[in-house]
Amino acid sequence: MLIPDRSPSGRIDVLANGPYQVGGGLPLLRALIISDARGDPVSWIVGEPYLASKTYRLCRCGHSRMWPICDATHGSVGFDGGETDSRVPYIERAEVIDGPALRLTDVRILCSNAGFCTREGGTWRLTSQSADPHARRLAIEQAGNCPSGRLVAWETNGEVIEPVLSPSVCVIQNPRIGIRGPLWVRGRIAVYSAAGVRYEKRNRLTLCGCGLSHNKPFCDGKHQDH
Ligand code: FES
Repeated sequence: MLIPDRSPSGRIDVLANGPYQVGGGLPLLRALIISDARGDPVSWIVGEPYLASKTYRLCRCGHSRMWPICDATHGSVGFDGGETDSRVPYIERAEVIDGPALRLTDVRILCSNAGFCTREGGTWRLTSQSADPHARRLAIEQAGNCPSGRLVAWETNGEVIEPVLSPSVCVIQNPRIGIRGPLWVRGRIAVYSAAGVRYEKRNRLTLCGCGLSHNKPFCDGKHQDH
């Protein structure tokens, strides 16, 4: 199960007990979650730019008065930004759910609680019902909308089914909960630790922007505990 490498030139550096430094002209965009009448997330509107700058620093402690832009408040709140992610490659820690016409992989600790996976029984059940074309299509759509890439859909022959995402950093806005949440990193952008070691490149990942994650630098959904 291999994901082809189409790497952009931009990069993100985690700074020790400080912000994310974004370089290489990566656009910073707003990503709005659209929900249906029941409140279940169904799609994204992505595109409105936040700022136009070739390099910028994004808040990692959650306390910036200019959030998502860093204003150096991390220094006065004693932010502990220690990186705790295990670095085990995604596929090695994934639970595999095999359906009749679709495979789903799931790494629970990466969940950013965006909520796209709950509609019509949820992505796991839809995968188990994937002999039905509607269930299969919906499972693929839900997995592809998962910003953290916790969920990934695969053909049963092992070919990955990934959305095409142009390299960008997105500030997720969820009107349902309206709090400071994760930063959505799209398009296989390289993220480097404070020690200069690159994390696994992934098409979709979410970085913690609230300072509360137990799996830094990645979001683990703790922003909802605010
Ligand atoms: S933004 Fe999700 S845990 Fe911090």
